[in-house]
Amino acid sequence: MKQIILFIFLVLQGTMVQAQSKKAAIASPDGLIKLSFTTSKKGEPLYAVTYGTAKVVNPSVLGFELKEGNFSQKFKVLKSETSTFDETWTPVWGQYRNIRNNYNELLVHLKDDQGRLLDIRFKVYNDGVGFRYELPTQAKKEFIILNENTQFAMTSDHTCWWVPGCWENDEYPYTQSTISTVDATEVKKISMNTHAMYIDDLNGVNTPFTMRTQKRGLHITVHEAALVNYPGLSLKVDRKNLILTANIAANGDGSGIRATVPCPFNTPWRTIQIGVKAADLLASQLILNLNEPCKIKDVSWIKPQKYAGIWWEMHLGKSTWDFSGAQSMDSWTKKVPTGKHGATTENAMRYIDFCAANGIPGLLIEGWNTGWEFWTGKDRENVFDFTTPYPDFDIEKVVAYGKSKGVGLIGHHETAMAPATYEKHMDAAYEMYEKLGIHGVKSGYVFKDPKHYHYDQWMVNHYNRTMEKCADHKLMLDIHEPIHQTGLCRTYPNLVAAEGMRGQEYNAWSVGNPPVHTCILPFTRNMAGPMDYTPGIFDIKLKRYKNAKLADKDIKESVHSTIANQLALYVVFYSPIQMAADVPENYEGNPAFQFIRDVVTDWDDTKVLEAEIAESVVMARKAKGENKWFVGGVTNEKERTSTVDFSFLPEGNFEAIVYKDGAKAHYDTNPTDINIERVPVTNKSTFPIKMASGGGFAISVMPVK
Ligand code: NOJ
Ligand code: CA
Repeated sequence: MKQIILFIFLVLQGTMVQAQSKKAAIASPDGLIKLSFTTSKKGEPLYAVTYGTAKVVNPSVLGFELKEGNFSQKFKVLKSETSTFDETWTPVWGQYRNIRNNYNELLVHLKDDQGRLLDIRFKVYNDGVGFRYELPTQAKKEFIILNENTQFAMTSDHTCWWVPGCWENDEYPYTQSTISTVDATEVKKISMNTHAMYIDDLNGVNTPFTMRTQKRGLHITVHEAALVNYPGLSLKVDRKNLILTANIAANGDGSGIRATVPCPFNTPWRTIQIGVKAADLLASQLILNLNEPCKIKDVSWIKPQKYAGIWWEMHLGKSTWDFSGAQSMDSWTKKVPTGKHGATTENAMRYIDFCAANGIPGLLIEGWNTGWEFWTGKDRENVFDFTTPYPDFDIEKVVAYGKSKGVGLIGHHETAMAPATYEKHMDAAYEMYEKLGIHGVKSGYVFKDPKHYHYDQWMVNHYNRTMEKCADHKLMLDIHEPIHQTGLCRTYPNLVAAEGMRGQEYNAWSVGNPPVHTCILPFTRNMAGPMDYTPGIFDIKLKRYKNAKLADKDIKESVHSTIANQLALYVVFYSPIQMAADVPENYEGNPAFQFIRDVVTDWDDTKVLEAEIAESVVMARKAKGENKWFVGGVTNEKERTSTVDFSFLPEGNFEAIVYKDGAKAHYDTNPTDINIERVPVTNKSTFPIKMASGGGFAISVMPVK
C-alpha cells in the first residue's frame, strides 16, 4: 500500500508531465508549505509546492540546456537527504534587530544517462521556498549553459504586478494584469522617450515578480537570491499554460551562451515567497536568509545614514554635471566653464553647512570628475577617469571641510556603461577615496554597452567585484541603474543600496511615476533588498528651477504625490541610506522638514499595519537602539482613511507628531497642503488619518520624558 501511495502521477498543466519515480517531500517548520520532488517518465526533475490545501506551484520542470545538449532529462535519483536548520542572526543593519533562519531542507542527488551529476537543494521556510542547482565535482570540469529550464507552473490566472522582461533595465512603470495578459506593448511605448529601451520579449517579466491568487488571495513573489558568477534572472511567461520559465541573460557577444561555470558550482537560489496577506510578503526575510553570513570582519565603518546631494539640481537643470559643456575633446582642452557647474568647492561647502545644520551625515557629489562633457557620446570608453577633479572642485578642501562639520562625502562614479574603462580605473579610484577619508561610492551604469547586457554573467561579476573591492577599501556602495538585488548585502553589508527600479529622478524629466508606483514598489523591487528611491521632494511642481514660468495646469513634469506622501516614503521604502533629495533652499522654512531631520534609517523592528498591493501601505518601524517609532502611510490615486492603531508601542507616554495631507490636498492640484499636529499617544491609542489622492502621512513617535 505504502508503495502505491509513493508512486504518484502528476499532470503539468498544458504539457502533461508524467511522474515515474519515488516522490520526496518536505514541509516548512510550521507545516503549512509543502514541497515535493519527483522525476517524470522522461527523467525530468519535477518539483511542486502547496500552501495548506492550496496548490501554489504545479509540477514544474528543472534543468538546463547545455552547449553539448539537453541536461534536463534522463535523470535518475541516486539518493536524497533531508535536514533541519534553525538559527537567529543579527544583521549589521536592517529592518529587524534579529532574523530567524529556520528551514527544512531536501537535497536530491541526480545522475543522467551520460553519467553527469546534478544536485538540487531545496529549503522550505514558513515564508516560502528556495532551491538551487549544485554541480558537484565530476569528470566534467566546466558547464557551458545555453539556457536554464527552471519552470514555475502557476495554478490559475493570478493578478500580477510587473515590469517587462529586460536584460538591460528595470526602470519601468509597473503594469497590473493577469498572467494570461502580460504584454509589454503599452509600457514599451511610454518608455520610448528614455534611453533605457531594450524590451525584446513582450511577454516576459523581470523579477521580483509578484502575484495574488484569485481564489485564496495568496500572495506569491518569484525572484532569486545570492546572484554570484551567473546571469540575472528574468521570466518568460507562457500566457496560455500559465507557466513562468527562467530566461537568464545571454552573454552580450552573440554566442548564444548564457553562462560558463566551473565544477563544483552552485547557481543562485530560485525563490518563491508565499504570504497569506500582502503584509506577509513585506515581512519575509527569505532572500537574506538564503545568502551567506557577513564576510566583512570590521564593519564599524558601515553606517546607515541619511544623505543629501549635489544631485537633484542637475536633474532640474539648475546646474550641470559637466564643467565646460564642450562638444569635442578639443574644446575641453580649452576648459571654458559654462558657469553652471554644480560640483564646485563653494557649492559643496554650502551643502555641507546644510547637512551639518540638519543632522544629515552624508553628502553625495555628482559631476566632480572630468568626463561629463562626453559621457553621452557613442564611444564612452576612456571618457571618465574617476580620479581627476574638475578645476573648480578642490576635493581635499571639501573632504576636510566636511570632516570638520561631521559630514562624510559619498563619491560618484558614473561609468556610462563603459565597464572596461571602470575596471581599469576602479582600484586607483577606490584607493584615492580611502586615502581621502571618503566612505561611500554611488556608481552608475547609464546607456548600453555594445559588448554586454546589464544582466549578463560578466556584468554580474563586475558589480560583485566592485562590491568586494569597495569592502577592501572601507567603502559603502550604492549601485545605480542595474540590477535587481538578491540579498548579497547580508554577506557584504557595504552594499547599502541599489537602484534597479524607476526612481524619483523620472519625475524630473519624464512622464514620471504615477501615485500607484509607490504602493507597488514595496511588494516588488523592495522585496529584493534596499532601494535608493531618493524621496523627500518638497517643490512638488518643480516650480523654482524647472517650471518657473509655467502655470500649474501647463506643468508636464512634476512629482506625483503630496508632501506628506514624500515623507511617508522614508518609512514605507526600506533602505539603510535615504536621501533628502530636494535642494536645500526648498526645505528652508518648511516645518515638514522636521520629519526628515528626525527620521532614522536603521531599525530594531518593523510592523506592517496595512498593506494591499497597488492600493495602500502603512508601516511602523522602531529606531535601532532607541525608544522612538516612525510611521508612514501611502495611498494610490484614491483618497482613503487609515486607522492607525498604536498598539505596537511599549507601555509609556509618547508624543506623536503627525504630518498629514491638508483638507484640500491632492497630488496634482494641491500637493503642498499639509497639516502638522502634535498628539499625546500610548499603546491604547487609535485614530483615523485621511490620505488625499496621491497622498499619505508620516508620524514620529517620541517618548515623553
Ligand atoms: C542616473 C542615476 O540614476 C542618477 O541618480 C544619476 O544622477 C545619473 N544617472 C547621472 O549619473
Ligand atoms: Ca537610474
